[in-house]
Amino acid sequence: MRIVLGVGGGIAAYKVASLLRLFTEAGHDVTVIPTEAATRFVGVATWEALSGHPVSNSVFDAVHTVNHVRLGHEAELIVVAPATADLLARAATGQADDLLTNTLLMAGDCPVLMAPAMHTEMWQHPATQANVETLRSRGVTVLEPASGRLTGADSGPGRLPEPEAIFTAAMALAGASAAEAGESGGAAQPDVDAVLAAGPSAAPLAVRALAGLTVTVSAGGTREPLDPVRFLGNRSSGKQGVALAAAALEAGARVRLLAAHMEVPAPAGVEVVQVETALELRKAALHAAADSDVVIMAAAVADFRPADVSGTKIKKRDDVADPVINLVRNPDILRELVEVRDAASRDQLIVGFAAETGDAGGDVLEYARAKLQRKACDLLVVNQVGRDKVFGEDTNSVVILSRDGSEPQEASGSKSDVAAAVIDRISAELSRAVPPA
Ligand code: CTP
Repeated sequence: MRIVLGVGGGIAAYKVASLLRLFTEAGHDVTVIPTEAATRFVGVATWEALSGHPVSNSVFDAVHTVNHVRLGHEAELIVVAPATADLLARAATGQADDLLTNTLLMAGDCPVLMAPAMHTEMWQHPATQANVETLRSRGVTVLEPASGRLTGADSGPGRLPEPEAIFTAAMALAGASAAEAGESGGAAQPDVDAVLAAGPSAAPLAVRALAGLTVTVSAGGTREPLDPVRFLGNRSSGKQGVALAAAALEAGARVRLLAAHMEVPAPAGVEVVQVETALELRKAALHAAADSDVVIMAAAVADFRPADVSGTKIKKRDDVADPVINLVRNPDILRELVEVRDAASRDQLIVGFAAETGDAGGDVLEYARAKLQRKACDLLVVNQVGRDKVFGEDTNSVVILSRDGSEPQEASGSKSDVAAAVIDRISAELSRAVPPA
């Protein structure tokens, strides 16, 4: 595959030399385009030696080959790492002031993945977040940065994800977009033989269970506004959904996280779509499901929302009666995802979660089986909830029910253990659904 590797001017540029090696060792043809600032961190000679191609950042070098048009046209995948705040801004506003931004503008349908790295303040600045949103809305995959030690004494979100994680995300993105273009006639599989031939460092990534697949996970609790300062919410921490996203990433998938209110950060290397209400989540989920092989609804979705949302803060007043909140029902997103999938005869595995307390009318499993029938999803992960159970805790204990009526499967331990068991079960279901060629 012809890859353009854009390198931004940040200290993390040195890590991108390892990323370049992963690409070339897996047999890809990589042209590196550093920005001018990037060459202050890692010199042109390094990129030329590692890629085996001439390297330039100017549109006025090798003009006879019309590089500023050709590179974007010929690329089958563009990866930008580190994507600095400046580079994200220039890409979002469509500037073409160097060879890399020219190439991004000429990329057409080519999948583009950007891996940001910068100080936390810069990453969280509304200007950067707006640029990221703009790029994502145009179909660019912008990964979440990792959290940890940054260049100075500071630490927080802003570290470049590890080269292996960027490599996995890039391969999954290329595979998914090839499948979308109908080139592989179904869920994209990486060229395992080529990767195995390339040596041990690249092999484990390509043979992971969900390599080449796109997984969408919803996580956290929705918030339904009453007025500008109040909302109806729930106790979901988002920990289980985040653990599932991390496990799917680990299994080699391209992962999209639909994040409602969460108490934990999104894992590095996933694409995050931030949502607040059930209606926003519904829109994001239906959109994301259109190109997902697996959808996992781990979010705690509010079943009801206030019928009226006041545009101003509701004040207590002595001259009128205290307000009564009227609720209206939210759509059942999980149910709708299944209906849309079935109507389109799409090959997609849909997984629901069930939070049950059990009561005098039935026990947890009875309610869960009825819920599985109602929602018609393929798998339902059931946990028993109560004020001190599950919500916000680091451990979990679940039963996985399947629509085909097979034996319920139990899993317990840390939320990461449970996530790994759910992802294992998903890959087992997928390999049963698609008989090997
Ligand atoms: N869910 C959804 N849309 C809703 C409510 C829930 O997609 N409006 C999803 C959740 O993400 C979860 C599953 O449905 O995957 C079950 O959620 P749960 O709250 O346990 O079920 P409810 O549909 O709310 O059923 P009940 O209120 O009867 O327990």
